[in-house]
Amino acid sequence: TNSLPVYSQEEVTKHCSIEKGVWVTYKGGVYDITDFVTVHPGGDKILLAAGKALEPFWALYGVHEQEHVLEILSEYKVGILRAEDSKKDDIKSADPYSTDPTRHPALIVNSVKPFNAEPPPVILTDNYITPTDIFFKRNHLPVPRIDPKTYRLEIEGLPGGTVSLTLDDLKTLFPKRTLIATIQCAGNRRSEMNKVKQVKGLNWGIAAISNAKWSGAYLRDVLYHYGFSPEVAAKARHVQFEGLDVDVTGTPYGASIPINKAMSEEGDVLLAYQMNGEDLPADHGFPVRAIVPGVVGARNIKWLGKIVISEEESQSHWQQNDYKGFSPGTDWDTVDFKSAPAIQELPVQSAITNLADGSSIDRDMDKVTVKGYAWSGGGREVVRVDVSLDGGKTWHVAKLQSSEEIESSAPSPPPGRAWAWKLWEIEIPLPEGAQELEVVCKAVDSSYNTQPDSVAPIWNLRGVLTNAWHQVRVKVK
Ligand code: HEM
Ligand code: MTE
Repeated sequence: TNSLPVYSQEEVTKHCSIEKGVWVTYKGGVYDITDFVTVHPGGDKILLAAGKALEPFWALYGVHEQEHVLEILSEYKVGILRAEDSKKDDIKSADPYSTDPTRHPALIVNSVKPFNAEPPPVILTDNYITPTDIFFKRNHLPVPRIDPKTYRLEIEGLPGGTVSLTLDDLKTLFPKRTLIATIQCAGNRRSEMNKVKQVKGLNWGIAAISNAKWSGAYLRDVLYHYGFSPEVAAKARHVQFEGLDVDVTGTPYGASIPINKAMSEEGDVLLAYQMNGEDLPADHGFPVRAIVPGVVGARNIKWLGKIVISEEESQSHWQQNDYKGFSPGTDWDTVDFKSAPAIQELPVQSAITNLADGSSIDRDMDKVTVKGYAWSGGGREVVRVDVSLDGGKTWHVAKLQSSEEIESSAPSPPPGRAWAWKLWEIEIPLPEGAQELEVVCKAVDSSYNTQPDSVAPIWNLRGVLTNAWHQVRVKVK
């Protein structure tokens, strides 16, 4: 190995495709794995690491922690990574984003500052519970770094005046509750709206949605403990949340939810301090975030600093002048944000994750496998997913993942409290002689709501609430 050449990260990065060769690094070594790609037992996913380090990907797929895997890898060693490239970048202090955490390289980044990213669709539904590292991330501002020892959560609007809780109070004074809930951004699938006509916003694909296990105290337990009463309830209409992330003027990210959602025994609103069994990571709101299951991501406030019980909605920009739906006929000259309600519960949604638009499949295969996710807001359970290979002329019913397949820890939820997505799958015989497939999916929820067939009639200037049939064209070769 002494004779192996030394390569810079820059050189490695260039080898990021089958055409240019596929190089990866691992513990200071450089590997040319071009010839291994087609025989990789995990399939095409290996290309996600092309030109990059393997470690973060293997951390996600523990199956690689075996000697025979390292033996295979060693056969492809072509060099040594330059020492300074094995170290992390120096932190620049002037940049407000300089203390943002490092992120998983598999993420598809829509914006670096603030950080907004989604996992590649092909790995989104590999797990019922999305691994924390690849859970989509949607930040409006730099990630605030909060010392858990000095952290305080303030509550205003209760009869006894302002309450100030420590993280310890939250963890010890209230029972720890755990639930599985999907979070979806209002802008999920915005890129499909952009194809109809340009909208304002990040160009999200189909993966601004993820599912996690959240633990914390119920908001209602906390509010009752500090004096919430029928008298308070008689006046209160909303519960406002403020984050500890602030813009240049010192204004925090904020939003509110209806008081009934917050206080109902069936609302399950959490002040969460754990995600997937560990402390919340910096990107997802450490040390405490609101989890408002069934409600748009925007109200699930991260880095929660303040709760206000109020007669009024949050006056935050994001509650008043963003995250609202409008008619396709409304444009930026005519829009009146006051005329539309803030988005809360989201409509029924589904998407295909294993087939990419424009990809091709082998004619010799007698069946096509289609996989994806489905979810609905407001605790409405997905009861069916329909899949078509011919643009919606004929339909097949997909198999929803059963609760036994999911995990013993995920018993089926009580009616009206289905907070988590359902993964689904179907094998459909390949229609004889087909040149191209128009693969389509649509979900039906427990209220028999279903998805609209096309995007144009639900187009809106902000590009929110895209939930038309998800459609991918696949060539048969
Ligand atoms: C499975 C090797 C990179 C995703 C495997 C297995 C081997 C292997 C030998 C089968 C392990 C077993 O079942 O005993 C390698 C090598 C890599 C590499 C040598 C790099 C040079 C990656 C990357 C990803 C990935 C970058 C993901 C981004 C997977 C997955 C499986 C797998 C998902 C499991 C497939 C299944 O359960 O059917 N890999 N891998 N691999 N690999 Fe990789
Ligand atoms: N909370 C704070 N404090 N700041 C934010 O920028 N983004 C919101 C919400 N909570 C945000 C926030 C939006 S729009 C979404 S979709 C979710 O967080 C995303 O949560 P995630 O990053 O954990 O996926």
